[in-house]
Amino acid sequence: MELLDALRTRRSVRQWTAESIPDEQLNKLVEAAARAPSGGNTQPWAFVIIRERGRLRRLRAAAPGIAGRAAAVVLICLDRRRADEEPGTSEYDMVHLTLGAAMQNILLAAHDQGLGACAIGSFHPASLASIVSLPRHLELKLLIALGYPVSQPAAPALRPLSDEMLLLVGFMLTSAHGLVDEPQSYGPARLLEAAGRLLDMIEEQGMLDDPLKQVKGIIDNERFGPMDEEGFPARLDQLALSWTESIADRF
Ligand SMILES: Cc1cc2nc3c(=O)[nH]c(=O)nc-3n(C[C@H](O)[C@H](O)[C@H](O)COP(=O)(O)O)c2cc1C
Repeated sequence: MELLDALRTRRSVRQWTAESIPDEQLNKLVEAAARAPSGGNTQPWAFVIIRERGRLRRLRAAAPGIAGRAAAVVLICLDRRRADEEPGTSEYDMVHLTLGAAMQNILLAAHDQGLGACAIGSFHPASLASIVSLPRHLELKLLIALGYPVSQPAAPALRPLSDEMLLLVGFMLTSAHGLVDEPQSYGPARLLEAAGRLLDMIEEQGMLDDPLKQVKGIIDNERFGPMDEEGFPARLDQLALSWTESIADRF
């Protein structure tokens, strides 16, 4: 799976089949986790995998965040022998960022292998540590519940269009003032950017058809390409023409 596709299509999966996960797949998850970047290259993590049914059942009693019956749970722990920073320090915060990177690697590697996973932050650390007999130097930070998904959950709702529109209005208003002193070509460039942002929103709602996508492609080239003042007026003309042609028959 392409990385960007994996990022786009990964979802938190909370319902799993009864099928167990082969060792090979679980090992790949740990390998992916251990490839995460770590502050100062401390690699302050330890990963514990729970897959035995009885333990999973008891673990669930101490982890209200786990909704369904997972085939395995990965415990992401801070190894106090590798990082002994005190809570409240910036180094301690750094450790959590590092464990977050490991979490994301596991979630993506699971998705890539056809597994469904969900990060679980709601659990009782002391009860859980006792259930799985966690050594004292391991501090439990996060769980990842895993299994083969019953179905692929729908993507969470996009941010409401109105929020994006308010941001666009903000962009236009703040641009307007800047334009008083800026070079003349900035004005059309800002209008193009505003048109591009509006089309982004329409596209995100799945309402941009192929002819309009083509014109959006031209607009995006202008927005994201290098500024070339010389051919700019002619390209704007061409753009206006393409746009009017692509919408002419709609009315
Ligand atoms: C640190 C962290 C803790 C989370 N804890 C829980 C949890 O306890 N229970 C749960 O069902 N989901 C939990 N989630 C999953 C989020 O609810 C989920 O990522 C979010 O709703 C976005 O959905 P998505 O992952 O499908 O994009 C957690 C996610 C993160 C990153």
